[in-house]
Amino acid sequence: MKILILNGPNLNMLGQREPEIYGTQTLDDIKDSCAKKAKELGFKIDFRQSNHEGELVDWIQEGACAKFDGLVINAAAYTHTSVAIHDALKMLKIPVIEVHLSDPKKREAFRHFSYIEPLARAVIAGQGPEGYTRALERLVKILKS
Ligand code: DQA
Repeated sequence: MKILILNGPNLNMLGQREPEIYGTQTLDDIKDSCAKKAKELGFKIDFRQSNHEGELVDWIQEGACAKFDGLVINAAAYTHTSVAIHDALKMLKIPVIEVHLSDPKKREAFRHFSYIEPLARAVIAGQGPEGYTRALERLVKILKS
């Protein structure tokens, strides 16, 4: 079983970026926690980050080509803007979990709408880096059921 974990723009700056909102862990720290959780639950992960919308779309299409069993996505700011990512997710037959470190619904109004949410089996938000490992647990539960 292999799970794709995608991260959108500016998440490569975690640790330095608005730590009062996103905390002090880096994306590499989050990757390590995900790898540990995957090992514990007995599956493989592919953890990626891009600042480019088209690259994220290309990677989602890999998921559509049956290379992965599930997808965890923090599309960051593209969550609130990207019809392209929405359309790419629509082609997926594998389950998708949307994750956010903060809770966008409790922040500025422009973050309240998500193009990912209608296509996600669950949204995990406002739980910081732990949201990622919880998303993996949720995904594995879905895949095993
Ligand atoms: C985020 C929330 C988004 O609104 C924001 O644009 C991000 C990060 C989060 O993880 O809390 O870049 O997805």
